Amino acid sequence: MNRNHSITVLSGDGIGPEVMKQALKVLQATSDRFDFTVSTEECLVGGAAIDAKGCPLPEETVKACEQADAILFGSVGGPKWVNLAPDDQPERGALLPLRKHFNLYANLRPGVCLPALQHASPIKNELIPNGFDVLCVRELTGGIYFGTPKGRDDNQDNPTAYDTMVYSKHEIERICRVAFVAAMGRDKRLCSVDKANVLQCSILWREVATEMSKEFPEVELSHLYVDNAAMQLIKQPNSFDVIVTGNLFGDILSDEMAMLSGSLGMLPSASLGNQKDNGLYYGMYEPSGGSAPDIAGQGIANPIAQILSVSMLLRYSLGEDDAADAIDKAVKSVIDQGLRTGDLYTGAGNETKVGTAEMGTAVVA
Ligand code: NAI
Ligand code: MG
Repeated sequence: MNRNHSITVLSGDGIGPEVMKQALKVLQATSDRFDFTVSTEECLVGGAAIDAKGCPLPEETVKACEQADAILFGSVGGPKWVNLAPDDQPERGALLPLRKHFNLYANLRPGVCLPALQHASPIKNELIPNGFDVLCVRELTGGIYFGTPKGRDDNQDNPTAYDTMVYSKHEIERICRVAFVAAMGRDKRLCSVDKANVLQCSILWREVATEMSKEFPEVELSHLYVDNAAMQLIKQPNSFDVIVTGNLFGDILSDEMAMLSGSLGMLPSASLGNQKDNGLYYGMYEPSGGSAPDIAGQGIANPIAQILSVSMLLRYSLGEDDAADAIDKAVKSVIDQGLRTGDLYTGAGNETKVGTAEMGTAVVA
């Protein structure tokens, strides 16, 4: 296997550059420790690119991404650019085109509550004695957000608007495959979430998921209606291992999961394209949160979401699973030791308040 990797680093704005610096420190430490190399090329994106080049996603940035094995993304957006036209703004002008250009149709968002951070979860602690660990696999490029026709009709007494939910068998198959493969690497339980009692798309979705489960006999497949899934996540998050669902339901459930796990600053995400012959994916990896302009530049942001994005990148795009495991373990260990950035700090006696750089250094150690 090739162990000389290359990635494009898009730090972006706000806390992006600060947390990225720590993530790259951790990446360097794991490549030293596990004997592989990663060359990194840093490119402009978002507000930083608007300021320097006049557009949120310069062509040379896209070219660099095309030549790399994966993209490590920070975050983009902030008050400085809100008055630009929507398509020229950092988020819409950079994130959506990148997803589209690289056909990143599978969005993986882990909802993890570490046992030591249970108090931060709004779920009653007796319901989650060991925290929880759920992976949400959301379809990202189809469904009601993109289906046509879409529009509105104001030329009548009762103005009307409409959106169309469309899913093809092919689209459902490819997202379900990502989810089954992910479940194989975890606790082998996959819950497909839909609304098959009212939606035609969901009926097809169920058929495709059920058919595919024959290829993955070790994975226990279940189905839930989305309204019930929303309740079960709050009542017993541990009843889930991997969730697979469409774009709209996944948008909502993954935010619910983020809230339940306690801190946005802890949660990474991956957006993946097709699986390659070697089992790896081209992907873009980024924190689940945004650019946090309210705390940017102060050295207090939690770098763990960005560090865990490196872990996901190593696992899904580079095939360096041992290094990914080591990072996950290191993060758990620093949290167990009581190190806390401001977003996690409660003032309890066993906690030590640290800044962005100290947290990164502790994970490296
Ligand atoms: P946000 O996620 O940036 O911030 C929400 C709250 O969480 C803030 O109080 C922030 O300080 C805190 N927070 C987020 N990440 C943190 C971390 N690592 N450590 C400590 N605290 C953290 O969401 P918000 O405020 O809605 O958006 C701010 C900007 O980010 C906007 O311009 C928005 O459009 C953009 N955004 C960008 C995303 C991306 O680049 N993928 C995703 C979401 C929002
Ligand atoms: Mg959302």
